[in-house]
Amino acid sequence: MDFSLTREHDMIREMARKFADQEITPGLAERDRAHESDPDTLRKMGAAGLLGIGIPGKYDGSDTDYISLGIVCEELERGDTSARVVMSVHSGLHCLTTLQWGTPEQKMRWLPPLARGEKVGAFGLTEPDAGSDAVNIKTRAERSGDEYILNGQKTWISLADYADQFLVVAVTDPNASNKAKGMSAFIVNRHTPGFSSRAIKGKLGVRAGNTGEIFFDNVRVSAADRLGEEGDGFKVAMSALDHGRYTVAAGAVGIITACLEASVRYANDRKVGGEPIGRKQLVQQMIAKMAQGRDIGRLLYYQVGWMKNVGLRHTREVSLAKWTNCNTAFEAANDAIEIHGAYGFTDEFPVERHFRNSRGAVIYEGTREIHQLMQAEYALGYRSDRPLDRVLPTYPFGENA
Ligand code: CAA
Repeated sequence: MDFSLTREHDMIREMARKFADQEITPGLAERDRAHESDPDTLRKMGAAGLLGIGIPGKYDGSDTDYISLGIVCEELERGDTSARVVMSVHSGLHCLTTLQWGTPEQKMRWLPPLARGEKVGAFGLTEPDAGSDAVNIKTRAERSGDEYILNGQKTWISLADYADQFLVVAVTDPNASNKAKGMSAFIVNRHTPGFSSRAIKGKLGVRAGNTGEIFFDNVRVSAADRLGEEGDGFKVAMSALDHGRYTVAAGAVGIITACLEASVRYANDRKVGGEPIGRKQLVQQMIAKMAQGRDIGRLLYYQVGWMKNVGLRHTREVSLAKWTNCNTAFEAANDAIEIHGAYGFTDEFPVERHFRNSRGAVIYEGTREIHQLMQAEYALGYRSDRPLDRVLPTYPFGENA
């Protein structure tokens, strides 16, 4: 067993941290307050090569491994959740799922522009009446010759107004006795007639990021743009969540680290009775918990990254990492506010933003309750973790990628 990261991992961490400090953090408090996303973020991320992380070089990706993707997510979310969300939906949910399920022709057609950052991908599973209960989605894809006609609506879609294409899951066989086998997945271009989007306003967190709804009104999609076989849609969606949850789990460590760093700074500066509050044991207890959460969180997501690298199924492990790290990030942000006292209650310090942002991650990509149920079902033997037919290409990428 080897726990060491490579020189390349260190360089990627350094590059992503610098990017977050130089491109994400400046002006962020104002954008967050105004509920405004920076229209240049995607272009800058593309130019920095971040949108190709985890994608093989043969598709113009960075040819780095999946642990690198986690490290980038951690460092971006140390800056702000809105930047990590781009990685989650573009790289995790969209690109890695395409890499896992696409035919050689589809991968060659879709991945290079995505990896070069010329196109941005997003993901559409959740609907107004189907969130955790993903098997009960209603969006319909009806076959018509060489095409499918999509009708329906998706909600809580990150980058709804910005993404060029969406991995959408829809019902192709409404009469299937097993609903999970009556769905298919499609790549839908936003410029297809009948497609529209609308931003969701009034969010508690991720205010500097775009979230919205997408609508399909007789949207025609070529059968060549179906990802996987007809009936594979639920599996495609679940494997997308294996990738999305990984990026969220890694990103949560960035929030913990940001809260730890801010709390250490404040605890050393702020004095009570002539000594820094860092000398107070109750403050030390909260700081110790943050350091614990950061290191446990890293071990959990590094393990999942390694399982991706070697092609092992990791549905159980990624669920555990997502549940643990997102809960810990929320607790760390809550404690960081406590340490900052009344200052933590204002947006003068970033911990207030981390607190609001971390609350969302306890819900999206599988709520805390869904992950608890999954962990209990695995432990009780009610849920199987047998190897999957299709896994990501293993790393180092070879001809199989
Ligand atoms: N990869 C591939 N296939 C998988 C899989 C995976 N990770 N997990 C399950 N499958 C397959 C199973 O093998 C099974 O196929 P077979 O019958 O051929 O064996 C089939 O899919 C059905 O699997 P399950 O029986 O495990 O399905 P379930 O109904 O028990 O799943 C659930 C229940 C786990 C709660 C699932 O519905 C779930 O994860 N719900 C939460 C959905 C979620 O996280 N939504 C968030 C959407 S994204 C978002 O939040 C937006 C955003 O990011 C901004």
